[in-house]
Amino acid sequence: MRRKLVAGNWKMHGLNAQLGEVEAIAAAAAATPQVDVALCVPFTLITRAAAAAGAMPIGAQDVHEAESGAHTGCVSGAMLREAGATLAIVGHSERRADQHETSHDAWAKAMAARRAGLGVILCCGETEAERDAGRAERIVQSQIEKSLPDGASGDWLTIAYEPRWAIGTGRTPTLEDIAAIHAIARAKLRHMVGEAAETIRILYGGSVTGANAAEILAVDNVDGALVGGASLTAAKFVPIIAAAA
Ligand code: G3P
Repeated sequence: MRRKLVAGNWKMHGLNAQLGEVEAIAAAAAATPQVDVALCVPFTLITRAAAAAGAMPIGAQDVHEAESGAHTGCVSGAMLREAGATLAIVGHSERRADQHETSHDAWAKAMAARRAGLGVILCCGETEAERDAGRAERIVQSQIEKSLPDGASGDWLTIAYEPRWAIGTGRTPTLEDIAAIHAIARAKLRHMVGEAAETIRILYGGSVTGANAAEILAVDNVDGALVGGASLTAAKFVPIIAAAA
């Protein structure tokens, strides 16, 4: 039985003024022990967020594939660990679009995060054009095939299915479409890692709110949510945690 995970991705939001939200979200997480909750904040906030979060894991939103070296502006897994992060998102569609990251990059970053002892949330998801062309399932299969880190296991790896066209738009796939992609993703994992596939959580992400979380989280093979905009305040995020309970 996979425990539900509700993870927030603050993207490029979050200054000291928002640490009170971290505290309030952590308090709700502590009061809902049947659900795993994590927050992925900007690099600059990791140490202070970790101090404010108590037992709630704090994550990063990216990690460099190298241990160290001449990579101006980049941050390694060891640096993230030292700062207080215990997990990292890799392969988010905004990094694929803005920084031209590929599925191979996501694989390398996931491997680096793992070497540093970080948990990994590996993102995949199709564009609207790909969905309209009937290619959503193939795209997700291919992204998982190319980016799944070696030795994948639910102890440290989570997959997040985030259709790009649903991110920040208020639009979500139908529950049937979510079920179809999550089933395809699970089948791909089974094909690649056998029984370990049953331990790997597959989150849905893209315009999850307190209003739609319960029905999305009830879909087969949806093991939680990766939440952007609605994770920025406790007022919006706590109802999603409650829906997962
Ligand atoms: O990683 C979470 C994300 O991309 C979804 O964002 O704002 O649609 O919940 P949002």
